[in-house]
Amino acid sequence: FPVENVRNFSIIAHVDHGKSTLADRLLEITGAIAKTKRNKQVLDKLQVERERGITVKAQTATLFYSHAGRTYLLNLIDTPGHVDFSYEVSRSLSACQGVLLIVDANEGIQAQTVANFFLAFESQLMIIPVINKIDLKNADPARVEKQIEMVFDIPKEECIRISAKLGTNIDEVLRAVVERIPPPNAGAADPLRALVFDSTFDHYRGVIASITLFGGKLQRGDKIMSSYTQKLYEVNEVGILRPDEYPVEKLYAGQVGYLIAGMKEVKEAQIGDTFYLQNHPVEPLAGFKPAKPMVFAGMYPVDQSEYSNLRKAVEKLTLNDSSVTVHRDSSPALGAGWRLGFLGLLHMEVFNQRLEQEYNASVIMTAPTVPYKALLSSSKLIKSRRGVQKSLVYIDDHRVMMQYLFPLNEIVVDFYDGLKSLSSGYASFDYEDAGHQAADLVKMDIYLNGHSVEELTTIVEKAYSAGKAIAERLKDSIPRQLFEIAIQAAIGSKIIARENIKAMRKNVLAKCYGGDITRKMKLLKRQAEGKKRMRKIGNVEVPKDAFIKILKRE
Ligand code: GTP
Repeated sequence: FPVENVRNFSIIAHVDHGKSTLADRLLEITGAIAKTKRNKQVLDKLQVERERGITVKAQTATLFYSHAGRTYLLNLIDTPGHVDFSYEVSRSLSACQGVLLIVDANEGIQAQTVANFFLAFESQLMIIPVINKIDLKNADPARVEKQIEMVFDIPKEECIRISAKLGTNIDEVLRAVVERIPPPNAGAADPLRALVFDSTFDHYRGVIASITLFGGKLQRGDKIMSSYTQKLYEVNEVGILRPDEYPVEKLYAGQVGYLIAGMKEVKEAQIGDTFYLQNHPVEPLAGFKPAKPMVFAGMYPVDQSEYSNLRKAVEKLTLNDSSVTVHRDSSPALGAGWRLGFLGLLHMEVFNQRLEQEYNASVIMTAPTVPYKALLSSSKLIKSRRGVQKSLVYIDDHRVMMQYLFPLNEIVVDFYDGLKSLSSGYASFDYEDAGHQAADLVKMDIYLNGHSVEELTTIVEKAYSAGKAIAERLKDSIPRQLFEIAIQAAIGSKIIARENIKAMRKNVLAKCYGGDITRKMKLLKRQAEGKKRMRKIGNVEVPKDAFIKILKRE
């Protein structure tokens, strides 16, 4: 394919504005997937992605499109929409010359629309605004076009109105891609420069690296060097992603595809690394900032005998998600485990869910914390809110954009949920790191019948109210047991809140008097299974899912 017929682009949008649906339509219309697969959201490959309806990892697909007597090769690079995964977005954009910026015709511009616009704008990409969901009853595309003109300074004539769901105007989107987005600036005669923008691990074939060729060509048998590790490899296979791997003879400058070269660990194909031909060294391309974990939590097997299985599962999962950091850790109460770093709370939940679904693991996660630099002091100063307003801009008559400086700790767990319910779902939210700030904080411990609950040790500013709230929520989520349970929140040795759970005798067999023994066995078995999902603290049994629930404020 001549490079002037290649187009590399991404779709960016606020969460739920319809990226995956549009990607499906583009794949369909260009014949990359059959119409019968409709609505399957082909680019969302992971089970958690399908279940939660969100994109976690970027996927790539190559499409062929004929227009005005020319056949184009289009590389569509999918991007996740949730704030936790915005590092994936910038990574995907490095392989592109243009983006489709999707805006929901009903909701208009939202926080991540703005954040993603600036990512694309700073990378000097061609931006094509696409207004989606025009089929909705309350759709107001004219209002959204005005917003786009006002906030992004893009003339409203450049907006394309579509319904990804119904397939309206999809061809116009493809036409805009080939007409407005420039081809990649890369020469096949130049020396090889292959930028790694993603990598996954396959049990049979080893590492599969997604690459963009900024120069040269690549084929089986080529000897290539990593700029980062200086290791030498022989290429086994190259190909394009349609979206499944589809081997080809050669990849040329400007193309996006994959590379297999006998690498055994994703670390060997570092994201942001540049590969070049042996004996033809090149200046490595500007890489990416490594993803920076923002939320940390301890993870322990429910049963210590599961430790080595769990270790294998964590290793495999982190092979495909280099943004999770892992350090070994151990605690007197929970035994051997790890301290993991995540990009955000959703990222942590997704990781946890994948461990359970894909590796059948049963784990305890401790309360998520954010990094602090601590100077110990005895002050207990109580302020009501810790946010500081930075700016306020009116987007149109109905919408304002406000910037605040917040302690990360205040926003990781449930700030987003709270904001959504406060604004009846209208407000949206995005964040970036603003560095460390001084604050007066204390460490608060939680005890159940005198035993410390390490999962719930947190750093708080408003200790009295936080302690009271956690104690009350624990009271609601721990079932009554055979003895009374005392719940206490403490700072050092000082108790600041207390709740009691009354004793109760739970007789599961009470329901089936009469002598059906199989029914009794079944009930007892179910009770035993229920116990497995419990964690024992001292003599108290706590349901595992209680830990995350407790941290979310109502
Ligand atoms: P993330 O992958 O999480 O970023 O979400 P997304 O932006 O990919 O959104 P997705 O394509 O999953 O669409 C979100 C919801 O909007 C789904 O329920 C779609 O069926 C719906 N949707 C997408 N396009 C349209 C459209 O044109 N019209 C209507 N009515 N609904 C649409």
